[in-house]
Amino acid sequence: MARIQITFFIIITSSVLLHTRSADVYSALLPNTVTALTGSCVQIPCTFDVPDFDEKLQNTKQIYGIWMMNSPHFNKENSLLVFNSSENITQGFSHIEMIGNLQKRNCTTVFYNIMMNHSDTYYFRLQMEPDVFRATFNTNPDDSSDSRKTVKINVMDSPHPPELSITPHVSKHVEGTSVSLRCSAEAPCPKKPPTLSWSYIPSSANITTQIQEKPDKTQSVISTITFNASYTDHKKNISCTVTYPTHISKDTTVENTITLQVLFPPKKTSVSVEPSASVSVGTNVTLTCNTKGSHSKNISYTWYRRGQETPLAWNKNITLIVTHNNTGWYFCTAQNKFGNQMSEEIQLMIKEHNGSSKSVIYGCTGGLLTLLVLSAVFVYCVRMASSQNNIREKDQIADDETLIIFYGETDVSKLKNCFIAGTNFRCDELTSTVQYTQVP
Ligand SMILES: *[C@@H]1O[C@H](CO)[C@@H](O)[C@H](O)[C@H]1NC(C)=O
Ligand SMILES: *[C@@H]1O[C@H](CO)[C@@H](O)[C@H](O)[C@H]1NC(C)=O
Ligand SMILES: *[C@@H]1O[C@H](CO)[C@@H](O)[C@H](O)[C@H]1NC(C)=O
Ligand SMILES: *[C@@H]1O[C@H](CO)[C@@H](O)[C@H](O)[C@H]1NC(C)=O
Ligand SMILES: *[C@@H]1O[C@H](CO)[C@@H](O)[C@H](O)[C@H]1NC(C)=O
Ligand SMILES: *[C@@H]1O[C@H](CO)[C@@H](O)[C@H](O)[C@H]1NC(C)=O
Ligand SMILES: *[C@@H]1O[C@H](CO)[C@@H](O)[C@H](O)[C@H]1NC(C)=O
Ligand SMILES: *[C@@H]1O[C@H](CO)[C@@H](O)[C@H](O)[C@H]1NC(C)=O
Ligand SMILES: *[C@@H]1O[C@H](CO)[C@@H](O)[C@H](O)[C@H]1NC(C)=O
Ligand SMILES: *[C@@H]1O[C@H](CO)[C@@H](O)[C@H](O)[C@H]1NC(C)=O
Ligand SMILES: *[C@@H]1O[C@H](CO)[C@@H](O)[C@H](O)[C@H]1NC(C)=O
Repeated sequence: MARIQITFFIIITSSVLLHTRSADVYSALLPNTVTALTGSCVQIPCTFDVPDFDEKLQNTKQIYGIWMMNSPHFNKENSLLVFNSSENITQGFSHIEMIGNLQKRNCTTVFYNIMMNHSDTYYFRLQMEPDVFRATFNTNPDDSSDSRKTVKINVMDSPHPPELSITPHVSKHVEGTSVSLRCSAEAPCPKKPPTLSWSYIPSSANITTQIQEKPDKTQSVISTITFNASYTDHKKNISCTVTYPTHISKDTTVENTITLQVLFPPKKTSVSVEPSASVSVGTNVTLTCNTKGSHSKNISYTWYRRGQETPLAWNKNITLIVTHNNTGWYFCTAQNKFGNQMSEEIQLMIKEHNGSSKSVIYGCTGGLLTLLVLSAVFVYCVRMASSQNNIREKDQIADDETLIIFYGETDVSKLKNCFIAGTNFRCDELTSTVQYTQVP
């Protein structure tokens, strides 16, 4: 009696030991969850390990894999043997293909034409016949961390939006520094990977696209755009658009957007004048320094007058009562913590009472027109000299092309700031004004 009891006890103990040991040694590595897109395929990366596998393989005539849906047990309600690789028998799916080589412990499988009713948990079973090894790789109920033996397929009509990140990981980037945007999209069906595109590509951009394997062996497509931040990129929205080809109807797209924030020194600094840079003596004139730059509330301005080293003022705008003493060229500089910029110069002039002289002449245009008129005068003088005519001021000079009338005495070398108004050439000679009229 006592002997029988002891034997019974030993049998129980050893079977418990056997069970725990075998649960530990054969294992499969599967992603916990994969997200599949309806109408597309899903690839399940799968590897397994079985003790003394290579030895077992030598005694095996046939090795095949089986995928079960919903339950690890054949005869449970709702459980379905969806695939048997022995003869490629598929149930509940239009097509399943085991692309991994079982003899190399690789059970990677592709499920095609995914539908909503395919959302479920799937179990892999390995059979090595005759009678060498048979096991369904299942989560050990005693160990909740041991969750990589089954895979949950999550079917969605529309894919997850891509992950979009910016490096360096700050919200604002200083102009001239290198910035990278990384867009990562899941590729559950690597045979038909999604395509990634960018809505805005900065001029210095460098784009690289690659397929990356995640730690759970599922794949992602990653596009990286690297560029030097420029003030022209400020407030630009950059979208990464991901297009998934699907079996049904049209392609599915998802996107994610980042708004660039660029910090930059003053740009487009200029001077504006109210009411006009050509005013009569005693007029109140306001010069405003306009600029675009970061921290616009904290930009400091400095005003200068040409020929005067000390700054005139430190405000955005200055007001002057115009006298003969304060006419001349003015400019400003704008500064923030990223740098500074100087404006072009603007000339403040006194308008003659008769209104015949305008006084706003912006540097470049003035210079150009001076040249133009001077050359016209030069040509005229040469012609005069060659014709040996003694023509005095106030005389009319006839030419086959132009007729120019001189008013008053003038020294051509002192002419400057000439401009054309209609058919009139006008030049300012020092403080007095000379007018030439071209008669067609
Ligand atoms: C898988 O298919 C083979 C060949 O048809 C068959 O012998 C085997 O019993 C099947 N396995 C299961 C678990 O149904
Ligand atoms: C099952 O399919 C795989 C790949 O699709 C193929 O290589 C293999 O020969 C097929 N097996 C049978 C028994 O049809
Ligand atoms: C899913 O639905 C399709 C058609 O409605 C059916 O053919 C297929 O067997 C179903 N699959 C499963 C696993 O229920
Ligand atoms: C398993 O097989 C698939 C398909 O051939 C392959 O892409 C993958 O790299 C293999 N995995 C391992 C771990 O060898
Ligand atoms: C980015 O700016 C740095 C320094 O300003 C320069 O050396 C580099 O060539 C620039 N890169 C591109 C792609 O413009
Ligand atoms: C683009 O980036 C790659 C990798 O960083 C680099 O080798 C290549 O020179 C870059 N091209 C340009 C135009 O900057
Ligand atoms: C950029 O996106 C934001 C919201 O994400 C929107 O408010 C803004 O108008 C967009 N800007 C442009 C220029 O499209
Ligand atoms: C000129 O304008 C400033 C500011 O607009 C004002 O304070 C000042 O009184 C004005 N001076 C004259 C003479 O109009
Ligand atoms: C403005 O600039 C001053 C000096 O450069 C600095 O102390 C202050 O913090 C700045 N304020 C803002 C809002 O940036
Ligand atoms: C002077 O500058 C202030 C801001 O600094 C602005 O509000 C004001 O309109 C300017 N005045 C003129 C006449 O432009
Ligand atoms: C302008 O300059 C003249 C001489 O250069 C001087 O006599 C006069 O006082 C000055 N006027 C003003 C308003 O500064």
